[in-house]
Amino acid sequence: MADAPLLRAARGEAVRHTPVWFMRQAGRSLPEYRRVRAGVAMLDSCRRPDLVTEITLQPVRRHGVDAAIFFSDIVVPVAAVGFGIDIVPGVGPVAVDPVRTLADLDRLPELTPEHIEDIAVSVRQIVAELGPTPLIGFAGAPFTLASYLIEGGPSKNHVRTKALMHGDPLLWDALCARLAQISAAFLRVQVGAGASAVQLFDSWAGALSRADYERAVQPHSAAVLAAVGDLGVPRIHFGVGTGELLASMGAAGADVVGVDYRVGIPDALARLDGRYAVQGNLDPALLFAPWEALERGTRRILAEAAHAPGHIFNLGHGVLPETDPDVLTRLVDLVHRVSANASPG
Ligand code: CP3
Repeated sequence: MADAPLLRAARGEAVRHTPVWFMRQAGRSLPEYRRVRAGVAMLDSCRRPDLVTEITLQPVRRHGVDAAIFFSDIVVPVAAVGFGIDIVPGVGPVAVDPVRTLADLDRLPELTPEHIEDIAVSVRQIVAELGPTPLIGFAGAPFTLASYLIEGGPSKNHVRTKALMHGDPLLWDALCARLAQISAAFLRVQVGAGASAVQLFDSWAGALSRADYERAVQPHSAAVLAAVGDLGVPRIHFGVGTGELLASMGAAGADVVGVDYRVGIPDALARLDGRYAVQGNLDPALLFAPWEALERGTRRILAEAAHAPGHIFNLGHGVLPETDPDVLTRLVDLVHRVSANASPG
């Protein structure tokens, strides 16, 4: 397991082929996912070890990816402590009563392992079935979670979130500190049960200037990453539209920085100054282009990342729901073949 290509690449060691997995590989584009999820609400499905295990394993079986990503959601631990939040199909996380004042934090107590005993059961079951393939645990970063809790749902401009960040720093820091505790505890339970890497999703951090990110957000994400530092698993840190933030996201305490598709790998490597392995970054829309275009884009990323301190192939954001799963399978095979011929390891 310690020799799995994903873990070797994350540590910057030579690999026999470039490891590949896909954000949002579990679910959405797979008919077998839609079958087992029929009639079960998203958050309910995340709390049923039989379903979580099956759905997490589906893309590994089908595509032969180098890692499984735990089937759950960034709001699962928030819901587990009793903050009223649901996932509305086609919309995303929706909070009935959003955070407005310090008193609202009473509805967001600290997360203890007792809140999520089923999560540990799911992880143990998955790891037992995965054999040598690593399981990636994950959590939402404080900014992205705070955005859902403050806006009450998905948001384009994050107006209320930014207004609160700038207008009520006391509440902002208290909320983010609480969310950092919750996400850290969620990650620790997953790693404690056998996950062998973690990814912190700060999906919407790209909405921030670097100055605001470094002042108001990075310390809280750093607290999450530091809280799992003693566990010895690689930490991946990812957000969308974060070209200007890559170095700051690395400096938050990551081993691997996720790069979205808007930034070329050479630019990303220059901005990261050779300090971190990188993950990414094929545009998910290319999966809808003719195979030749997809193959060209893939070969280019592999060539550009050949001298990175480590490279995990992924998309620049999640798999889009309409994606043909057979194209994903073919892409995994291409990444393996091309990188096996190119790499000395
Ligand atoms: O590979 C995987 O899908 C692993 C599990 C996973 C889910 N959500 C399952 C899910 C992971 C890693 C996430 C993370 C997540 N959730 C993020 C960060 C990743 C990213 O995309 O940037 C964010 C921002 C969320 C919040 C969230 N949950 C959104 C925006 C949505 C989509 C709403 C929609 O229907 O388009 C969800 C729901 C969700 N989470 C689904 C899945 C499979 C779809 C629900 C369904 O199938 O009914």
